[in-house]
Amino acid sequence: MRSESRPDAISPMRIEQIQKRLLEWFRQHARDLPWRRTRDPYAILVSEIMLQQTQVDRVVPYFERFLERYPTVDDLAAAPAADVIRIWSGLGYNRRAVNLQRAAVAVSTQFGGTFPDQPDELRKLPGVGAYTAGALAAFAFERDVVFLDTNMHRVVSRLIFGNGSPSDKEVLAAAALLLPKGRGWEWNQALIEFGALQCTAKRPACIVCPLNQCCAAFPTMQSTLAEKRTAARKKNSDPFETSSRYFRGRIVEVLRALPPHDNAGIALTQLGPQVRDGFSPQDLPWLQSLVEGLQRDGLAAIAEESPRYDADSDQSPPSPRVRLP
Ligand code: ADE
Repeated sequence: MRSESRPDAISPMRIEQIQKRLLEWFRQHARDLPWRRTRDPYAILVSEIMLQQTQVDRVVPYFERFLERYPTVDDLAAAPAADVIRIWSGLGYNRRAVNLQRAAVAVSTQFGGTFPDQPDELRKLPGVGAYTAGALAAFAFERDVVFLDTNMHRVVSRLIFGNGSPSDKEVLAAAALLLPKGRGWEWNQALIEFGALQCTAKRPACIVCPLNQCCAAFPTMQSTLAEKRTAARKKNSDPFETSSRYFRGRIVEVLRALPPHDNAGIALTQLGPQVRDGFSPQDLPWLQSLVEGLQRDGLAAIAEESPRYDADSDQSPPSPRVRLP
């Protein structure tokens, strides 16, 4: 199955079909975003850094405000770092602001205010990795470069490798085969937009997707999504996780209700029936491990000293005592 969809096995006809359909979809659905109306590498850099961990809708007003305040790379390079961090307020991940300004200083001082246009050179700028360098080369200099963020990776991977798990290298090689010559700007914007709006991680709109007939993932997409949902549900409701969290809460409630300043605490044998119906002495090791976990997390203290215990007597052994720390 996998060998059928190896990149070297993609027919030129299929490549052409994918290109035609995706570009047509983009023409019909592309959002009009301010960074798509410019080829200024400085503005593109600002947008890409802002978009790294923030949604498009939230970025738009910040992007516009930032460029009004710092219209050129030299303006940003000359600004006090504190001002740049302030104008970033509300976008989050403030280190991005610091890196962006450092990149501006590097362009201003090392490249005389002119951005290099090759990904290798761009990568030398602070905070600029493979993705951002590729995005700058494609979106500012309209170069035919291949670069992938998570969304673009998902789109290419589904189209070519179905619901398998190809390596990054394989997906990048497939992306290189798909890129239509001379259309690096449009193609990469289309991949981004398609991943954001149509071929989303959890709810891809496969039924109405114009690429479904040339998509390797389409035939098994519904069952794959169902499996993933079940796995996610299972993970979130792991019976051990859920119940131990529940019983830890119950234990802390009981400890909270003990008289304050009474450091004697409560014996595990008395605690057990208060936290679990039908508690029996066989449950003591379970309870002890929960209490030890609470102690490790600073939520409980187990009494270190136990009364002397005579193993030859008829008495049962003393039970450890526990209290709030
Ligand atoms: N995220 C990263 N780059 C983007 C772009 N050019 N358009 C929309 N979202 C993006």
